[in-house]
Amino acid sequence: MKIIGTGSALPEKSVTNDMLAGFLDTSDSWITTRTGIHERRLLSTETLRELAMKAGRAALESSGVRPEDIDYLICSNVANSYVSPSLGSIILGPLGCCCPTFDLNGACAGLVYALDMADAFLKTNRARKILIVAAEQPSRFCDWHDRATSVLFGDGAAALVVTEGEGFIDFRLTGDTHTDVMYYKRSLEPTPYDRVEEKTTPLVMEGREVFRLAVEASIRDVDALLGRNGLTGADIDMFLLHQANMRIIECIRQHLEQPKEKFPTNIQHYGNTSSASIGILMDELSRAGRLKNGATLLLSAFGGGFVTGAALMKWSEIQYK
Ligand code: UT7
Repeated sequence: MKIIGTGSALPEKSVTNDMLAGFLDTSDSWITTRTGIHERRLLSTETLRELAMKAGRAALESSGVRPEDIDYLICSNVANSYVSPSLGSIILGPLGCCCPTFDLNGACAGLVYALDMADAFLKTNRARKILIVAAEQPSRFCDWHDRATSVLFGDGAAALVVTEGEGFIDFRLTGDTHTDVMYYKRSLEPTPYDRVEEKTTPLVMEGREVFRLAVEASIRDVDALLGRNGLTGADIDMFLLHQANMRIIECIRQHLEQPKEKFPTNIQHYGNTSSASIGILMDELSRAGRLKNGATLLLSAFGGGFVTGAALMKWSEIQYK
C-alpha cells in the first residue's frame, strides 16, 4: 500500500491559552510548560461533517482519483452527534463516492488502525482505492469546567487516499484493557427491563497514568518495528507521532537519541486532535515539500482503550496543484 493523496481541514476559530484563562483556573504558562500547546482550533460555526468533507475532497483532489473510483471509505471517529448512521455514511454521498463505508473507533490511534485495515483490504483484493477520513471533535466530549482535560484538545480532520504500492513496510497494533484511565460515557435510552441508570460522563482522564502508558507503549511499538526490520532510529528520516503532549514526544525522542528535526510537531497550534493528528501533520509536511521521495517514516499513536498503532513506511512524493 502507498499513500497517493492527503488532505486536512481545521476550524476557523483559534482559541489561545489566554482565552481559556478567561473562564478557567489555568494560565498560558501552565499549559505551555506542561503540554507545549499555545492555541487550538475549535468548531463553532462550522460542523464536523464539513471538516471531514473538506479534508476528504482535498485528499481526493491531490490523488487524482475520482470519487466514484473509490471503492472503500474508512472513517476514523471517536464521537459525533450521530451514533447511527456512521460519519462515513453521512459524508459518502456528498463526496460523490458510492462504496461501502464504516466508522472505526481506535481512539487517537484510529488513523493507524484505518491504515492497517486498508492495507489488509488491498492485499486481499477487497478494494483498490481507499479513502480514509479521520475527523474528530474532542472539544464536544470534554467538560469545559475541567481544566485538566479541556485545555488539551482541538478539533480537526485529515484524509488520505491509498492504493497498491510499495510504501508501507510494517504495522504494529496493540490493545490492552485500561478503560478506567480515560473514558467518555454516553447515556443510552432507558428500557423497562434494564434498570441500570446511566448518565453521560464527559471525558475522565488520569493524566499522569495516561502519560506513563503513552510513553511506555509508544517506545515499545517503535522499538519493536525498528528491531524486527533490522533498523535503528538513525535509519528513520521522520517520526510522525501522535500530537498529545510535547513532553511525551520529547520522552520518545530522548529514548531514540535522535535530533529534534526528525520529530515535526503542530501541537503548538492545534492541541490534541485525536485520530486526526498524525494525518494533519502528514498533510502539512507533504504540502510543504518536507517529505521527500523515499523518506523512511515511522508513525506512532496511542489512545483510550488502551490502544496503540505504529507503522513503518517509505514516502512517495505527491504533486499538489
Ligand atoms: O490522546 C491521549 C490523550 N491524553 C494524553 O495524552 C494526556 C497525557 N497526560 C498529560 O499530558 C499530562 O499528565 C497532563 C498535561 C494532562 C497534566 O500534566 P501533569 O504534569 O501530569 O500534571 P498533573 O496532572 O500532575 O497536575 C499537576 C497540578 C495539579 O495541581 P496540584 O494537585 O499539584 O495542586 C493539577 O490540579 O496542575 C494542576 N492542573 C492545572 N493547573 C493549571 C491540572 N490542569 C491544570 C490546568 N491549569 N489546565
